[in-house]
Amino acid sequence: MAIEFKDSKTKENLMRAFAGESQARNRYTIAAETARNQKMYAISQIFLFTADQERAHAKRFYDLLKNLSGATITIDGGYPVDHYDRVVELLQSAEHNEREEAEDVYQNFGNAAKEEGFLEVASAFFQIAKIEAVHAERFGKLANLLETNRYYECENSEEWMCLNCGNIHHGKMVPEVCPVCREERGYFIPLELAPYMEPAIYKSVSKNA
Ligand SMILES: [Fe+2]
Ligand SMILES: [Fe+2]
Repeated sequence: MAIEFKDSKTKENLMRAFAGESQARNRYTIAAETARNQKMYAISQIFLFTADQERAHAKRFYDLLKNLSGATITIDGGYPVDHYDRVVELLQSAEHNEREEAEDVYQNFGNAAKEEGFLEVASAFFQIAKIEAVHAERFGKLANLLETNRYYECENSEEWMCLNCGNIHHGKMVPEVCPVCREERGYFIPLELAPYMEPAIYKSVSKNA
């Protein structure tokens, strides 16, 4: 039986998703400030980078509601209070929320949209679920490195990138200040987690340097 969009569960789920993405964007922006205050500049940048992607998700869901412009959609929903002073807890809670979206919430929303016959919406939920899984993975790795004191040092030689100047440092430990730009070590990030380029590209560049 065909369901009209204005009477659908899908329109409510889109509004729930818009609310959830909007809140995630703000939570990450606030988390970025906390990380920055603790001199974890690279982690702060990752929160901002991710916040901007949540804005893009919010926009996609909001665009799919465009036909209902002028209407008010009333929803209920649960939203997390993840206001922590420790960056590791901010990362862990972010990982948890991203995973829940990826594996549970957006799968259910996608299936419901499919059942109601809104295939474009269903595909947006499934596509964005995949991105949230990548977010979860990245936040989880960072949380784990911080928690086990392996963010700035490791047993075997590794590589880190200074996100301020792009310097790639090889060794067992990140120096107190970047030897190139002289900024604090908080700008360094393990190279595999630097989000701006393919690691393979970094490697060939750094080998030739
Ligand atoms: Fe998102
Ligand atoms: Fe996300």
